[in-house]
Amino acid sequence: MVAQEEDRVLTADVIVNTDLRYPICIGDDTRPALATFLEHRGQRFIVLTDAQPDVARLARDIGRFPGALGVLPVPLGEARKRLTTVEKVQDALLAAGAARDALIVGGGGGVASDLFGFCASTYMRGVPYLHVATTLVAMVDAAVGGKTGVDVRAGKNMVGTFTDPVAVFAQTAALQTLPYRQIREGLAEIVKAGIIEGHELFESIETLAPHAFWRWPWLEIVAEAIKVKTMIVADDRQEAGIRQLLNLGHTFGHALETASGYRITHGAGVALGLRAAGLLALRTGRYSEEEHFRVLATIALLGMPLRTSVRVEDALAAMQSDKKKRAGKLRFVLPRTIGDVEYGVEVPERLVRAVLAQLRRQPESTG
Ligand SMILES: NC(=O)c1ccc[n+]([C@@H]2O[C@H](COP(=O)([O-])OP(=O)(O)OC[C@H]3O[C@@H](n4cnc5c(N)ncnc54)[C@H](O)[C@@H]3O)[C@@H](O)[C@H]2O)c1
Ligand SMILES: [Zn+2]
Repeated sequence: MVAQEEDRVLTADVIVNTDLRYPICIGDDTRPALATFLEHRGQRFIVLTDAQPDVARLARDIGRFPGALGVLPVPLGEARKRLTTVEKVQDALLAAGAARDALIVGGGGGVASDLFGFCASTYMRGVPYLHVATTLVAMVDAAVGGKTGVDVRAGKNMVGTFTDPVAVFAQTAALQTLPYRQIREGLAEIVKAGIIEGHELFESIETLAPHAFWRWPWLEIVAEAIKVKTMIVADDRQEAGIRQLLNLGHTFGHALETASGYRITHGAGVALGLRAAGLLALRTGRYSEEEHFRVLATIALLGMPLRTSVRVEDALAAMQSDKKKRAGKLRFVLPRTIGDVEYGVEVPERLVRAVLAQLRRQPESTG
């Protein structure tokens, strides 16, 4: 079924009718829209859920919709995003009688969407998958774009597939139970999206930054951030070109995460990486201090780090090894202005070093 046709059966608050071939439904409570969607498909489905209690409760509700074969709670967490968990989940699917014509409905954050999406894309050579996103990261990033996967010894997300879901439901009410540190993980990606998109999204975040998270209009923010990601992904599903824009802040970010032995979370890495990308853009004469300071001020207000004690040599080594793994060159995504970001920029190593050294010092003036 084409996305447009499925969109018509949805009645939730916001439906991003994206250039992707599947609908993304954003609502405070997307359960009614999901029920309609499932009824319209008329397919048997089985629910896989992160065993976290708030998420599992939502999943049990979905498991009461007509056509449900059952609900399988799976204890997750990054450490469990592994092939061993995939095997357990797929065994459980077989035991529950999920046939080739079943749909898998997954619920949870980015670990759930990566892992359950991967399970679905390989179960019986691939069955359709739908994700109900319950973390900010899953809503604005992980569940959108069709990348699934698991971590292996050699590195994170090194085994996986590009498999589109049949739909994504972003349940913004779920953010009420999400710890603030997890909200910040998602915000790092939203700030990134804001710099790529430019004015409206970035200005909203800048305005909201001093306010407590529970007061934020999450529905609108999530919708805007999703639009940025889907627009870019639709142009480049296999990550051959423009999708690299979404890696703004990530070359530095990944290196800092790795070099810190993952003491620095992904979101914190991205926040630091956004400072680093800004500094590199300044040093190569393509950015204005005024805009750089606006980004720094916003990141600081959101309670994310701008400074790290990771040593230059360690971060550089991590960057080189990442580059080798991905068989790529060391290239950067750099802002020219907020709203105009370029990718594939080669930069002399001495400038990268200088920026890494600067990250160990107080942020440059935000005045
Ligand atoms: N495929 C992609 O394009 C892509 C993009 C970004 C991130 N990712 C992946 O996403 C993962 C990170 O996602 P994440 O940050 O959502 O982590 P996560 O899925 O581990 O969720 C974070 C924590 O919140 C809990 N949780 C989930 N929903 C909750 C809720 N509503 N209330 C309370 N607690 C809740 C989870 O049990 C977990 O403890 C990483 O593995 C990363 O590689 C993938
Ligand atoms: Zn990221």
